[in-house]
Amino acid sequence: MKILTLKLSNFRNYEKLKLIFNDNLNIFYGNNGIGKTNLVEAIYVLSLTKSFRTNNDRNLIKDGEISTKIEGEVETNTTNEYEVVINKEGKKVKIDNNVVSKLSEYISKINIVLLEADEQIIFEESPSERRKLLNIELCNIKNDYIIYLNNYNKILKQRNFYLKELYLNSNGSLEYLDILTKKLIEYGKKIYDYRKEFIDNINKYISDKYKSIFEYGDIFIKYNSDYTKNEDEIFNYYKINYNKELNLGKTLYGIHHDDIIFQLNKKDIAIWGSNGQKKNAIIAFKLALIELIYAEKGSYPILILDDLFSALDNLKVKNIIKILSDNIQTFITTTDLEKIDNSLLEKADIFDIGNCGVFNE
Ligand SMILES: Nc1ncnc2c1ncn2[C@@H]1O[C@H](COP(=O)(O)OP(=O)(O)OP(=O)(O)O)[C@@H](O)[C@H]1O
Ligand SMILES: [Mg+2]
Repeated sequence: MKILTLKLSNFRNYEKLKLIFNDNLNIFYGNNGIGKTNLVEAIYVLSLTKSFRTNNDRNLIKDGEISTKIEGEVETNTTNEYEVVINKEGKKVKIDNNVVSKLSEYISKINIVLLEADEQIIFEESPSERRKLLNIELCNIKNDYIIYLNNYNKILKQRNFYLKELYLNSNGSLEYLDILTKKLIEYGKKIYDYRKEFIDNINKYISDKYKSIFEYGDIFIKYNSDYTKNEDEIFNYYKINYNKELNLGKTLYGIHHDDIIFQLNKKDIAIWGSNGQKKNAIIAFKLALIELIYAEKGSYPILILDDLFSALDNLKVKNIIKILSDNIQTFITTTDLEKIDNSLLEKADIFDIGNCGVFNE
């Protein structure tokens, strides 16, 4: 998978911009605050229609403007024109100039893997952040995942609403609660199956990646979910616990409570791991993800290494780049070219951000 060109209109600090990329290695180089991450963010938004650093799409629009457009020519099995337009009414996506009304159809087309500095923070955050990690990656790999997830969330909302109603009016029908519960389980079980398969597959690669770059150690991701049993058993579990849910007026069990635990040598890395080990574990996860995407899609994702040199020593970054296949198109942002090996600089296209005429057409 390769992005050949990128065209921006009023995206972040860029008014108009067109770039042509190297199909192997691209380096965005320049001072802090100059707009390096903005460029990899644009590639990310072109792929997933959402940013990795803001939940509010409007922040992507250049200050004082009313809309932004990101366009790119991307080679997957075929070469196509992708386009994302964001304005205050919302978001519109196109492939080859045809509007794609279902985002789910768009999102799974271009695969991307992003490595950022300081991602180990995920271990300190709430389980919802770790679920978000699963959701983003699964939406990118399985095009119906997002449909099941949306359906689950819709039923969850209805069920919570109904539980509140029953809480206020204890004469309400439990039959309707049964129906909602069964629907919740139906969609939730699909999500569970996808998450389980994904984690099992990541576990096939993650330890090897960790060892090849960092240190000796076995990494294993444990998946904690309320939905490990079969649908009848899960339903019975809800039934036994209806009273608890009725007393609180909300759904207490389901895949909206899932969590993943990273273990290093069988111990929870969030509790036992050093800062460096946590950092390495999340990088090993992303590298495993690259292999998984290759296995699923038959081509490597686009890889972004944003500011990784500020987080890791040069040797580690060198090791990461060394084990990457030449077939992976990679984007690196850095403030310091000296940190990058000459052998890499030779084959890369270097974009000197801020000092380069190409940046504003
Ligand atoms: N919506 C926007 N409109 C205009 N400018 C914006 C917008 N959002 C962010 N910026 C500007 O973009 C710049 C930040 O760009 P970016 O995060 O890409 O920097 P960077 O080169 O990655 O820096 P660092 O090396 O510190 O990571 C800031 O100067 C900020 O003011
Ligand atoms: Mg940056």
